[in-house]
Amino acid sequence: METDYTRSLTVEEIEANAYDVYARLRRDSPVAYVPALNSWLVTKWDDVQRVTTSPDLFGAEDNNAPVVRHFGSPAIIHSDGPVHRELRNGIAPHYSPRKVAEYIDDLVRPLALECIKNFPASGEVDLVADYFEPISVQTLARSFGVTGVTTETLQSWFHGLAMGAINFARDPERTKICDETKEQIHQAFDPIFARLENAPDNSPLSNMLYHSMEDGQRRSREFVMPSILVTLLGGMQEPGHGGANTLVALLENPDQMAQVRSDSDAWLRKAVSEATRWVAPIGTQGRISLQDVDFNGVIIPAGQAVSAVIASANRDEEKFAHPDNYDINRSETSYATFGFGAHFCAGKWMSLAQMELSVGILLDTFPDIQLMSDKPYSFFGWEFRAPTKLWVQVRKS
Ligand code: HEM
Repeated sequence: METDYTRSLTVEEIEANAYDVYARLRRDSPVAYVPALNSWLVTKWDDVQRVTTSPDLFGAEDNNAPVVRHFGSPAIIHSDGPVHRELRNGIAPHYSPRKVAEYIDDLVRPLALECIKNFPASGEVDLVADYFEPISVQTLARSFGVTGVTTETLQSWFHGLAMGAINFARDPERTKICDETKEQIHQAFDPIFARLENAPDNSPLSNMLYHSMEDGQRRSREFVMPSILVTLLGGMQEPGHGGANTLVALLENPDQMAQVRSDSDAWLRKAVSEATRWVAPIGTQGRISLQDVDFNGVIIPAGQAVSAVIASANRDEEKFAHPDNYDINRSETSYATFGFGAHFCAGKWMSLAQMELSVGILLDTFPDIQLMSDKPYSFFGWEFRAPTKLWVQVRKS
């Protein structure tokens, strides 16, 4: 269903005020076609679950999805059935809870301490650019077996890839930025592929090429590359943004900051996961309708792009008490942040552990970290949402 409101919505409006838009959609048009996005938006918790866990009604394969148009096919999040399982079994084993526990502290702690060592003497720090993003990009790159690429380059990769992944409106400028980024990534990956094609190792990349293949066989670079781009984008960008969301939430809620500081073993994991409910780093799971589907009288016709808005599900008033409040003491524990169904996030456990460590190390090092009132933060984005900058004043104890 299209209304005057959904017809008038622009990408800019949703990127700037995503949660106001979702609240209005949940109230007036919970299943709505939004022309500016070329997609239906489904914004209530139950409907989001239905879209993402009914593969007979909604498929992941969608050749018009921005990710497929820009990254190629098969891309893990836009494939179904055996191809999806083949791709997922390449990546997921390295990020199981047990495996993550083996390596995460050794990986994240040195990166966090290095960032802190480089904080300027003034103590004025943008935690997005100078702490959370560097930890996030290097953690994923190193866990993926990519070494020797600078933090700045990795940051530019996910900014460039994101331009393609969010390009619902087919903006040629965003396409150009994404294409240039992909070219750089291909150049960086060529020698890594060449090495692995001669000598497999235990990296996720190697597993993607070789798992369940006959001796002497491997998958082609072309087959795995689209899924590598998907993983680089989400995996490098989102834990950093979730960490930044957590800092905003705790600094804006001093009682809860005190509660976390008083017993971080008990409260840090909750502080991080509640922050990614409050502001979900990834906004949607994208699907395509495989037949006409009825949502309380609103019919999504077959063959339409559908965005299950997990960020909105996380604020559904019928699911959460006072959903706009950040509250580590809330009783609800089930969140939509990492998605539902066969495509739920393969990096969930690595992300939670990384965010917990990076936030914890920061709080331990700086007992009196403060927001800078003359450099206010603001959130931006709907498909990916986070503070663009987060200026704080820190002083070591
Ligand atoms: C706070 C951090 C993160 C959030 C909120 C997040 C969220 C999500 C969501 C919502 C999906 C489902 C997308 C869809 O169905 O369209 C997803 C998929 C995925 N995520 Fe994450 N993610 C995060 C970090 C990571 C990390 C660090 C990795 C690194 C391994 C990763 C790897 C993946 C992969 C490979 C998929 C595709 C799974 C599939 O299609 O089977 N993510 N993520």
